[in-house]
Amino acid sequence: MASMNRSDPVILGHVLAEHRDLFHLMHSVQSRFAMASLPGQPRPESRADVLEALHHLREHLGDHFAQEELGGFLEEAMTRMPRLSAAVRSIVAQHPALLAELDRVIDELTVVETSGGFAAGAKSWSAAVHAFKAFAANMAAHERSENTVVQEGYNEDLGLVE
Ligand SMILES: [Fe+2]
Ligand SMILES: [Fe+2]
Repeated sequence: MASMNRSDPVILGHVLAEHRDLFHLMHSVQSRFAMASLPGQPRPESRADVLEALHHLREHLGDHFAQEELGGFLEEAMTRMPRLSAAVRSIVAQHPALLAELDRVIDELTVVETSGGFAAGAKSWSAAVHAFKAFAANMAAHERSENTVVQEGYNEDLGLVE
């Protein structure tokens, strides 16, 4: 349902605030990974920190995607500019894959945890680090596409696109 009764600045402000929150959560996971990776084997509490931040991110991301899929700025951008429909459809179609990717990172780390840290210095830990890096890059590309659609849909230069 297009939110035509809401003023543009409110919707756009909401998009920006949501993406800023996500950026902070991603950054928090990244810095915890960096802390836990230094030097030698990650200590149990560092690994637990990473896992906690990942679960928090997963929860937030699930809600964020669900909100976007319910209709809001993406749908409104499409209503304003129908040529954006294909872009919006492909953006929304990325959500399940991104969530699955994040779930795989969580699974990798859970393997490390359930092994009592045995796998910490080995395959699972580095697999989780690499998987998160790949996920972060995909997430950044996703958010960039969204920002582009919003910017084009509202036909305003809001400084959303790098
Ligand atoms: Fe999205
Ligand atoms: Fe988003």
